Amino acid sequence: MNRGHWGSRLAFVLAAAGSAIGLGNIWKFPYITYVNGGGKFVILYLFCILLVGLPVMLAEMILGRSTQKGPVGSVEHISGKKSGWRGMGMLGVFASFSMMTFYGVVAGWVLSYIVLSLIGRFNGMQASEFSTLFTSLASSPWLNVGGSTVFLGLSLAIVLGGVKQGLEKFCNVLMPVLIGIMVLLCVNSMFSESEGFSKAIKFMFSMDGELKGHAILEALGHAFFSLSIGMGAMLTYGSYMSKDGDLVKSAVLVAFLDTFVALMACIIIFSTLLGHGVEVGQSVGLVFQTLPYEFAKASYGSLINLSFFILLFLAALTSGISLVEVPAAYLIDKGYTRNTSTLIIGGLIWIISIPCALSGTPEWNAVFGGWSFFDTMDNMVSWYLLPLGGLLICLYVGFVMPDKMRKNEYFTGSSSAQIFYTVWLILVRFIAPMIVVVIMLNKLGFITNQEFDSYFSSMLGSSKSQESITP
Ligand code: PFF
Repeated sequence: MNRGHWGSRLAFVLAAAGSAIGLGNIWKFPYITYVNGGGKFVILYLFCILLVGLPVMLAEMILGRSTQKGPVGSVEHISGKKSGWRGMGMLGVFASFSMMTFYGVVAGWVLSYIVLSLIGRFNGMQASEFSTLFTSLASSPWLNVGGSTVFLGLSLAIVLGGVKQGLEKFCNVLMPVLIGIMVLLCVNSMFSESEGFSKAIKFMFSMDGELKGHAILEALGHAFFSLSIGMGAMLTYGSYMSKDGDLVKSAVLVAFLDTFVALMACIIIFSTLLGHGVEVGQSVGLVFQTLPYEFAKASYGSLINLSFFILLFLAALTSGISLVEVPAAYLIDKGYTRNTSTLIIGGLIWIISIPCALSGTPEWNAVFGGWSFFDTMDNMVSWYLLPLGGLLICLYVGFVMPDKMRKNEYFTGSSSAQIFYTVWLILVRFIAPMIVVVIMLNKLGFITNQEFDSYFSSMLGSSKSQESITP
């Protein structure tokens, strides 16, 4: 069956960047950058993208394009239908599926905020009213189920259109709009009266803040989430790429765009908050309470709020479609039509998204040992499935995929020097897996954050270590 192909390399880059640029860039990255002290963390994050994120992303794309199949199909193509490595592919399919069930709930909140900004509801509201507003939204069964259903519906509609008429057509339009809104909001921060912009730049690039050793875990975990790696999304998108495009350049471009947007989000958010002397708080509170309140104070407050939530929604939508595409591609590779595959997957996601959407209600708030269904799905995917998926993909592409096939695919359409291939292979075979194992040991509780901090401070010299250990 014809699975479809991107019309051009640019279409592939925009769609892959669409998957990568999501809620994680806009609401999570600024928060973790802030709590980890700014400049040094930004540099650390850039290293993580370069040394781990980018090589793993390229590994996924190489596997996908060489086999022209999704995560399970690629393994079957290379190792046969009985290979235990199929588990790696299934894990990716399961992770994408699970992630969409809670990602849609947040996107549903964003949708409600777009409507609220449109009707001017935020004008003149006090800070405390924003928290009441959000609490009542998060605990409303109808609004949550409704919002996530609309989001899922839109994602399914795009996926049903297929690679060219659906994913490509929408990403070609939505991504430039997204980046355009981002640039406009950034320019607006530059010219706002408060000193916010210069404070934001100073914070993001100053090397004064203290960086704890465990920040590396946070930076790496986020690099995986942000680049959409470890669950087969880049692999699946790579499988729709024809053999003449340059995968190496494409991967670099996607990683660059993703990081660029994350840094712009920091500028927009820090300019407003630091300019008003406000703390940058945790993700949900930050995006749905603090920011709309602070944005509303500006001269074109309603317009800024509206633009910001539209931006967030577009980012969520272009990521959401890749989350549906991965499990749908699994069924398509099994021989089902795109329509049947998308509708089966969509129906299943919708059913599981209901308990996620109800997680803010008192009855569903703490179902799994104090955790809601939403938190359970979120933690399972972000803490375990993504790193595990990343580890397996590195080992598979690094050691199991035939040498000739891997090398051929790397150089097809690319003029990359041999030395880059060698460095990439070392990163994929040894460095990235080792780092991912450490992240997993930390998540499983075998290495604590404190152990990390003291290990790193002792590595940096005893005098420094005294400084950071003594409160
Ligand atoms: N990269 C997305 C974000 O930063 O929000 C999240 C994501 C989307 C992860 C799609 C994985 C994926 F397959």
